[in-house]
Amino acid sequence: MSWRNLFRVKTDFPINHDSGSLKRVLGVRDLTFFGIAAIIGAGIFSSIGEACAKGGPASVYLIVICGIACAFAALCYAEFASRIPVSGSAYTYAYASFGELFAWIIGWALIMEYAIGNIYVAFSWSGYVVHLLDQIGWILPRWLVTDYSTAHETYLMVSEKMQSAMNSGKFGGLWDAANLGGYSLADKQAFEAFVAAPVLFGLHIVFDAPALLINLLITALVFRGVKESRNASNIMVVLKLIAIILVIAVGVAYIDTKNYDPFMPEGFQGVMKGVSALFFTYIGFDAVSTLAEESKNPQRDLPRGMFYSLLICTILYIFITLVLTGMVPYKSLAVGDPLAFVLGERGIDWLEYIVSIVAVIAMASVLLVFQMGQPRIWLSMSRDGLLPPAFARIHPKYSTPSYSTIVTGLMVGIPILFTNEHFVLDFTSIGTIFAFVLVCGGVLLLPPRKEGEGKGFRMPYINGKIIFPAIIIGSIVIVRYNFPGYFSSLGDASKWNTMFTVAHGLYWLMLLVLSVFTFLKNWSLIPLLGLSICAYLLTGMEANNWYWFFGWFGLGLIVYFSYGYRKSKLAKA
Ligand code: ALA
Repeated sequence: MSWRNLFRVKTDFPINHDSGSLKRVLGVRDLTFFGIAAIIGAGIFSSIGEACAKGGPASVYLIVICGIACAFAALCYAEFASRIPVSGSAYTYAYASFGELFAWIIGWALIMEYAIGNIYVAFSWSGYVVHLLDQIGWILPRWLVTDYSTAHETYLMVSEKMQSAMNSGKFGGLWDAANLGGYSLADKQAFEAFVAAPVLFGLHIVFDAPALLINLLITALVFRGVKESRNASNIMVVLKLIAIILVIAVGVAYIDTKNYDPFMPEGFQGVMKGVSALFFTYIGFDAVSTLAEESKNPQRDLPRGMFYSLLICTILYIFITLVLTGMVPYKSLAVGDPLAFVLGERGIDWLEYIVSIVAVIAMASVLLVFQMGQPRIWLSMSRDGLLPPAFARIHPKYSTPSYSTIVTGLMVGIPILFTNEHFVLDFTSIGTIFAFVLVCGGVLLLPPRKEGEGKGFRMPYINGKIIFPAIIIGSIVIVRYNFPGYFSSLGDASKWNTMFTVAHGLYWLMLLVLSVFTFLKNWSLIPLLGLSICAYLLTGMEANNWYWFFGWFGLGLIVYFSYGYRKSKLAKA
């Protein structure tokens, strides 16, 4: 094995390789709409509640930080897209610039963004559907609408408390919340789901049937081939925007400023606990870069489309966060359907119905975008020889990547049976942030463009030589004086098991190393800032997320070295 092979670069990109002749019909408005179609989904309708319950109203700061991180990443995507004007994802760009191993790692990370992300969206979709059915009085048994992992964990937790309550003679019934204390309605339902479930060979049958069903339907649709209709998608976007703007406009009148006091009840560390949930709300803007071959003027319009969609979503997210945390006490927002929940709590029933229906449709469309995206990435990887040929198999009748589509359906469907939404949310966010860090880092290493190379968008080059080290050293000084214990706690071995200190220690070390390289190599400021902000978001991840993350990439490397490395088309060239 030669290490040089790990960096072999793909140079041959047959334009319109897999899609026949694509028509260049999309303008800035279409691209912006497409971006919003992919961005607004389970994040704003669901995961935002979890973040607000951890960080309080100050979660709005994190919304802005995530928005800025994504804007920098979007610039880097745009730079890649304008240099390599074929349709593709970060995987394609990486293969063209940094070689195979890097491309493989990004492709592997994109599975976390697309397939694992869809598990979360499916769970959230189910949450809203069940909420709607409950509202119209059709109450499904809870063991049919709860995931096994949540039901089982809640059962164990509650049983333990019950046992000790019984021992102390204080117990007053199967669910004596007053005596057990600290449990929400969701906990009660999860517990009851487990207790009431049919038992087969000692196994409690508890699963989220609506989440499985929607995955099955979407997989079938993608398998048959959906003609993405631009009109239908645009109507969807307008519906989503109207629903969110209505919640903001109506909700503002119900804000109780007492709920803003204190604004940061759990400190900044509490705010950072919402990283996965808030970052997830932005995932999807990068899908715009896959439309390079269908846009009229990709070099000009792709970056604009990404920016406008990010900007519109960031503004809406800021308002929604302030409205949600202003309408009810932040802690009560730890529910799967926070928008519907606050409206219900404040008795605005007419809007609660509208929002729930729009959420169900919106999330189904996000599912569709990602469920279509994943097989197409695998198709490219398979054509490059990095995955078995079956992944590139095209259905003779439907002309869709049939095998990849089914594997995607299984990758989304099987985990629905044994994971829960908190786990997949962290997993998908950590993988996507990591992919963004790599994309920003990748742009940093791109050679300068030759005179006249690539038209349209060019990332402005600002020499980071002095500015970047100055920003880093300035930040260290500011943090040191404003939070005196911060750096000393990084060396505190007793705290190292929390991972927080490990992550922060490594983070600052990385920035110092980057500063040195920037000083020596005159690196460009924009990707450096993108990399730094995205990497900062990674410090909000907990130890458990990192174990899974490294496990996942370990598995990816095993697959690459046992298959892709040998079978790569470039190995045979
Ligand atoms: N941002 C997308 C969503 O919220 C993934 O559903």
